[in-house]
Parts: sequence; structure tokens; C-alpha cells
Amino acid sequence: MVNIGIFASGSGSNFENLVLALEDGRGEGYSVKFLFSDKKNSYALERAKKLGIERVCIELKDCLNKEEYEKKILEKLEKENVQLIVLAGYMKIISSALLQKYENRIINIHPSYLPNYQGKDAIKRAFLEKNKETGITIHYVDEGVDTGSIIYQEKIQIENIKTLKEVEEKIHQLEHEIYPKVLTRLCQGEIK
Ligand code: GRF
Repeated sequence: MVNIGIFASGSGSNFENLVLALEDGRGEGYSVKFLFSDKKNSYALERAKKLGIERVCIELKDCLNKEEYEKKILEKLEKENVQLIVLAGYMKIISSALLQKYENRIINIHPSYLPNYQGKDAIKRAFLEKNKETGITIHYVDEGVDTGSIIYQEKIQIENIKTLKEVEEKIHQLEHEIYPKVLTRLCQGEIK
């Protein structure tokens, strides 16, 4: 069993889905030790409360600097014996101290077919540029923005989709289908 900590700054639908996947059999081999959020008002924290998952919230503004902020996170990770950090809409760059401690043990999901549309608003940019297809990518986190080595990616066709909202829904649906599957295979050592 791999102990994971999930990091989310926003809505937290992927976090919730990873927890529910353990209950309904779509996911296995991992145990969610806590949900970390860097935003006190993130809906992910509400979801964690409902799911009975421990909530950890540290805001950067309450710390002296990013070093102290990540030191606090690291203490919690070590206390809970977290082996893999799973980012799910976490909006901060992970700095080198944490990256070194968790080398090749931090993964992220990104709503585009990387290396296309790295960074923010990936879905919107793909839609506004009238791309025929976009996708999702699960990758290891390195010091860059959405540049780490790719674990899994999948394309979806968006040519005939009229609104951004519909594209977003389609992407999120795919994320919810794929993230538990890939995490399961990773935790079971089937993929690297
Ligand atoms: C997802 O689209 C994910 O790919 C990106 O942030 C979004 C998080 O959505 N990194 P949610 O908070 O899980 O609903």
C-alpha cells in the first residue's frame, strides 16, 4: 500500500474522485493520508471534510517565506509517512527542497496533451485557438512548469464542441476516469 498526500488549491474534484475510486473499486494500492491545501477557502477542503479525510491547510502568507512553508508541509509528509505526492489542481510551484526530498515521487495531472499548453488556462487556450484535439497528461513534477517526464497521456477530439464549458466537462470526465487508473498502476508497480 502506497501512502499518498493529495495537494489541491481549488475545487478538488480530482481529489474527491481519487478517494471515491478506492471505495467503488476503480482504484487500489494507495491510501490517502491527508488533503493539503494552500488556500483556506478552497472547496477541496469542504470535500475532504465530507469524505472524512484529514485536512491540512497552510497558507504561504502565514509563513516567513516559501522555505518555511514547504518545511511545514514536509514535516507533515514525513509524520504521515507519505511516499507519493499527488497534485490535483495545486497552483503553486514546488521548490527544490521538496523536489529533492521527493525526487520522482511527485505526480501531477494537467489538462492538455503536453508539451502543448503548459501552464495556466490550458483548456481555454486550446479551445480558443480552435484546436481539433487536446487531451490530458499525467507526469512527474520537476522544477519547470508542466515539464516533467510523462507517465501517461491521452487525446480527445474537440473539433465539434461548441462551448468552452463542454470542453472543460469532457476533459474533467476523462481526468476522473484516468487519474485513479494510472495512480493504481503506478502504486502497483505496473508502470514507472
Ligand atoms: C484539473 O483540470 C487538473 O488537470 C488541473 O487542475 C484542475 C483541477 O480540477 N491541474 P479539480 O480541482 O480537481 O476539479
